[in-house]
Amino acid sequence: MKISVLVTGGAGYIGSHTCIALAEAGFTPIILDNYGNSSPKVMERLARITGQAAPLAIEGDVRDRALLDRLFAEHEIGAVIHFAGLKAVGDSVADPLSYYDNNVYGSLVLAAAMRSAGVRTLIFSSSATVYGEPDESPIPEDAPTRPANPYGRSKLMVEEAYGDLGRSEPGWRIALLRYFNPVGAHESGLIGEHPQGKPNNLMPFVSQVAVGQRPHLTVHGGDYPTPDGTGVRDYVHVMDLAEGHVAALRHALAHEGLLTLNLGTGRGGSVLDVVAAFERACGKSVPRVIGPRRPGDVPAYWADPSAAKAVLGWEARRSLDQMCADSWRWQSGNPNGY
Ligand code: NAD
Ligand code: UD1
Repeated sequence: MKISVLVTGGAGYIGSHTCIALAEAGFTPIILDNYGNSSPKVMERLARITGQAAPLAIEGDVRDRALLDRLFAEHEIGAVIHFAGLKAVGDSVADPLSYYDNNVYGSLVLAAAMRSAGVRTLIFSSSATVYGEPDESPIPEDAPTRPANPYGRSKLMVEEAYGDLGRSEPGWRIALLRYFNPVGAHESGLIGEHPQGKPNNLMPFVSQVAVGQRPHLTVHGGDYPTPDGTGVRDYVHVMDLAEGHVAALRHALAHEGLLTLNLGTGRGGSVLDVVAAFERACGKSVPRVIGPRRPGDVPAYWADPSAAKAVLGWEARRSLDQMCADSWRWQSGNPNGY
């Protein structure tokens, strides 16, 4: 029998891509999303991509305990993948309470409802942001954690709460996945990332410049101690990430205990590397100006992804060129999102 997986935040960027990988791997995703940063229109696209019925989607909030209790009572849910949360660093500094409420309180309500329902397999979206400014790269999972903003602290608090929960009683199977920089889109070009307002992150900004919605990219700093002077990150294709969730889920279903894993490629790319790859993908030049450094930015970091490979047998396969080609296909086909 197919195992049903509750995917909180499943209408969002990473969640929607993971629903494809889940469906392709023979799981049945059930989405819970408040559509605060997404659209229910993604469901029809998921059906087109997978050739299966659109996933069951429930509109609601992960902080709504009564709704969660009903969901667990009405559906035979075998596991939960928990994406629902807020993710904008700047907003988290301006309004920390909403970050602790959505991200920390929401995660606690979810775990409590799971515990009552006897569902103990949980995959959680954490972030490389928990490392803050690392001492060295590649970053292994046992590197010190020192998040530099409320968003990062909210992720670390949940990691710690879930870790304590997993150690408090037998039966829990919890994977804490620390994503590096997810980019790209499904190769169909039917789903992708559509930030509201001015994008904070590099890839959506470059895409919007390429499609003509913004005049130029401002490169935040050209004087970093990196090979070309611009910031270096570990960009990982969102479909590789999606497949990493399926691998983590399969592992968790087969093994009790707690896992903390980096999901990244293990390779760093600079801002100018991304721009060059995007220009190759879209066949035009991406105007850019070098501006000052962005406050709070780290010069360079990338993952040590060897534990994910050893434990899950997962490694990222897609190149930076593919990430840009897929971002471009999505952006150029859907310049205004869904
Ligand atoms: P996203 O905003 O596209 O997706 C999050 C989804 O959760 C959205 O559909 C939103 O409507 C929903 N949501 C938010 N709060 C909710 C609530 N209280 N109840 C129900 N639904 C709610 O973001 P994403 O990029 O897909 O990120 C998914 C997860 O991965 C987040 O937890 C994020 O912190 C984490 N993460 C993202 C990145 C990244 O760069 N995108 C990096 C590391 C970690
Ligand atoms: C940001 C978040 C981090 C989150 C990650 C998800 C901050 C401080 N950190 O990280 O918590 O987990 O996104 O992917 O916001 N850049 C430009 N011009 C732009 C935008 C970005 O030059 O218009 C540069 C940045 O300086 C950086 C690189 O591009 O060197 C990547 O930036 P971004 O996509 O915002 O990701 P991070 O800063 O790594």
